Amino acid sequence: MTFEPAEWPRKLRSQEWYGGTSRDNIYHRGWLKNQGYPHDLFDGRPVIGILNTWGELTPCNGHLRELAEKVKAGVWEAGGFPLEVPVFSASENTFRPTAMMYRNLAAMAVEETMRAQPIDGAVLLVGCDKTTPSLIMGAASTDIPSIVVTGGPMLNGWFRGERVGSGTALWQMSEDIKAGKMSQEDFLEAEQAMSRSSGTCNTMGTASTMASMAEALGMALSGNAAIPAVDARRRVMAQISGRRIVQMVKDDLKPSDIMTKAAFENAIRTNGAIGGSTNAVVHLLAMAGRCGVDLTLDDWDRLGRDVPTIVNLMPSGKYLMEEFFYAGGLPVVLKRLGEAGVLNRNALTVSGGPIWDEVKDAVNWNEDVILPVEKALTSSGGIAVLRGNLAPEGAVLKPSAASPHLMKHRGRAVVFEDIDDYKAKIADETLEIDETCVMVLKNCGPKGYPGMSEVGNMGLPPKVLRKGIKDMVRISDARMSGTAYGTVVLHTAPEAAVGGPLAVVRTGDMIELDVEARRLHLDIPDAELAQRLADWTPHTAPPPSGYAKLFHDHVEGADTGADFDFLKGCRGREVPRDSH
Ligand code: FES
Repeated sequence: MTFEPAEWPRKLRSQEWYGGTSRDNIYHRGWLKNQGYPHDLFDGRPVIGILNTWGELTPCNGHLRELAEKVKAGVWEAGGFPLEVPVFSASENTFRPTAMMYRNLAAMAVEETMRAQPIDGAVLLVGCDKTTPSLIMGAASTDIPSIVVTGGPMLNGWFRGERVGSGTALWQMSEDIKAGKMSQEDFLEAEQAMSRSSGTCNTMGTASTMASMAEALGMALSGNAAIPAVDARRRVMAQISGRRIVQMVKDDLKPSDIMTKAAFENAIRTNGAIGGSTNAVVHLLAMAGRCGVDLTLDDWDRLGRDVPTIVNLMPSGKYLMEEFFYAGGLPVVLKRLGEAGVLNRNALTVSGGPIWDEVKDAVNWNEDVILPVEKALTSSGGIAVLRGNLAPEGAVLKPSAASPHLMKHRGRAVVFEDIDDYKAKIADETLEIDETCVMVLKNCGPKGYPGMSEVGNMGLPPKVLRKGIKDMVRISDARMSGTAYGTVVLHTAPEAAVGGPLAVVRTGDMIELDVEARRLHLDIPDAELAQRLADWTPHTAPPPSGYAKLFHDHVEGADTGADFDFLKGCRGREVPRDSH
């Protein structure tokens, strides 16, 4: 039997394992044949790794085994050889202290999984918040052809005639409980209505945002982001993506060809138009770092500042992802950006062509879901990047989720040293706080929490909620769930745990927030601030061992994406030969 590669333009990397008659080739092929694969599958056709973040403890991705079968069908049809590979799945709703602490670990594992094994192309099967960025980061660091297929959002939740948006409803109802407006029994009943089908969060939370970012970046086929998990068209998308990756391998269409600066600019503008999650800021910065693309926090402000938020979805608006899909989904939004002259139309996508070709014929089927510009939720969507003596390296705020009357505010700081301090004090009726105060939470950044938890939208004090107040200015170095809302300043950098100015704010200090001027200011004399910083000592000791130590020692600030310093950049697909 001969091992001439099939009709492919070049010898693929999988042939280093499978394509010959050496002892090593026989070793690799022979083992795989114990799964019942015929000999001719090793003839040089591309091996497609279906990198699957399925897991029963990642319920948002609980249907991805089924979807993987459709991907395989597409790969087979196009002449590839699909092999499903489980990869690290950082579930948002189970991982402690926060799934964010494991994004980089997952990205590192995926990178090594791809490079160390005979994979010519990869289908990234993702869904829950961290699974999408971690797999894209890993793929970018290998530059092996890759295509994203997300699991799709859940169907709408409904409770007593009202839409129940994942996360968003949870935050609202828990505030209603504290304010005495909802009973615990009703809360439990609502729980049954929150997640009524397979899929990811149905709001424009982080999962839907990152699915939209993958599509806007060009890493997923057009229309992928919004198709509900249980819609038959989700399975069709999986199958045609399986076909497509085979051709991408043939063309050697790599992540570095797709994720260019132009693609990231498209994604940032898209985030403004959809009212996407602030989490996209850290994830896109980290992804760009893997691609060697010079993307900064200021690009977020510059590019997103004048983009109107036109997608009327919770938490900024009214509807859910199911309705976004029926209205036409992300292609309609990208078309709008193109018509407004702010889309890089020639940016390449996994389709092999420019993004404009994919979206120029999109039709908006519901103008109450995807709004005309004159009815935009906010004319300046996107992410506001704030600076000042309280955030020299920047902080972010999502204007579309904030209260207009608080966008310019001066108030007395009420400080919580960490999340435990907040929990201990917030319900204390003697706490000196009212709605004019600024709540300050420290030590919840990348190193501080550790992992940069989504606690930045800390709940208001019950005595304020009982007055019917729904929002206050809140400042922290934490993140916020993409399903949350409020006038919440996040990602303050440098974080408190490394001695950033946030660490030395004291209860009673006055703080000024001016979103229009992009200013966050601690109103104390410069000399006093300098003295406080000089006197600062760390809040906690660093972890002594284990992954927590690796994380602490190497995680960078939120302002550059909170990646590990040693993981930035692309290390390519080459790997030393094995030793057998
Ligand atoms: Fe997994 Fe929202 S918690 S998608």
